[in-house]
Amino acid sequence: MSLQLGDTAPDFTIDSTAGSTNFYEYAGNSWVVFFSHPKDFTPVCTTELGAFARRKGEFDARNTKLIGLSVDSVADHHGWAKDIQDVGGTALNYPLLADQDRKVAGLYGMIHPKADSTATVRSIFFIDPNKKVRTVLTYPASAGRNIDEVLRILDSLQLTDGRKLTTPVDWKAGEDVIIAPSVSDEEAKAIYPNGWKTLKSYLRLVPPPAA
Ligand code: BEZ
Repeated sequence: MSLQLGDTAPDFTIDSTAGSTNFYEYAGNSWVVFFSHPKDFTPVCTTELGAFARRKGEFDARNTKLIGLSVDSVADHHGWAKDIQDVGGTALNYPLLADQDRKVAGLYGMIHPKADSTATVRSIFFIDPNKKVRTVLTYPASAGRNIDEVLRILDSLQLTDGRKLTTPVDWKAGEDVIIAPSVSDEEAKAIYPNGWKTLKSYLRLVPPPAA
């Protein structure tokens, strides 16, 4: 059974492009975006790894570490890293795990046998500083991921953590957010003295809190 929201992300130690890598040590007190790739030297993956490298600064700004996984060797990863830099314009700047025996892929449920019996699917696990799985996305090998969506989910998770707020469809950082239905109008008046916009009694919008 694959990991579910709220589960503790399993720890592991494995070789990567950054040497022997222990997941919990690498994560420290940061958020982690952990993503798997089907195979080295494949076109979609090459574009994805390059895009994550190019946009790493945006993950740093969100106190978030990147970690990738593919089921090939460290030597293959280093060879592929040259292509990733050529195509994406930025050197690989986060660890790419070499999960040749699929040990980590098994722990995280990254192999979906009906899609492919040996290659990992394109999973993304969002893991918070307490090592809890907070979001899981799964894409087929044929569809490259969207980095804006990954950042958008991080923004929503980080904004709503510890607050009685949620984010609506297609929400982006800076846009209005929803007052959780568990907050009564009486309570809301105390929290939002400037009021809110009511679309339905249960759908009340306020500007996002200051960071
Ligand atoms: C790709 O990255 O292009 C890819 C990888 C595995 C299967 C199909 C496509």
